[in-house]
Amino acid sequence: HLPVDVDVSALPPGQQIVVTWQGRPVFITHRTPEALSALQDAALTGRLRDGQSQAGQQPPYAANWHRSLDPRYGVVVGICTHLGCVPTYRPLPEGQGEGNWPGGYACPCHGSRFDLAGRVFRGAPAPYNLPVPPYSMPSPTLIRLG
Ligand code: FES
Repeated sequence: HLPVDVDVSALPPGQQIVVTWQGRPVFITHRTPEALSALQDAALTGRLRDGQSQAGQQPPYAANWHRSLDPRYGVVVGICTHLGCVPTYRPLPEGQGEGNWPGGYACPCHGSRFDLAGRVFRGAPAPYNLPVPPYSMPSPTLIRLG
């Protein structure tokens, strides 16, 4: 497989693009400062199944609170770890979350909810966080998958 280069220089904050890598959808999200502070909010992280990313669902360089190389850009494989549906990108403005979920990715099949780092909330059928694919950033706005 050849690497897939994704130029994110024109991706505005708060927007997502979906690219295909090795036949799978990869979500690349430009996270806003508000989204980044939400990822560190203890009230949120306490409700995550694997908030510390200890289940090996990412390369070692993404085993951090933002599960990425550059906190601004989220990079996750868009395949639900329950039965493989493609979650929907649903960032929600602060204070407009649904119940205990502040917005992020929602699986349409059986209701698993993920945050904008792809971390799954407890109570969901999905057992693991969304995987982070291997990638590098040859420049601050170039994401190279694979
Ligand atoms: Fe996503 Fe079942 S496939 S919740």
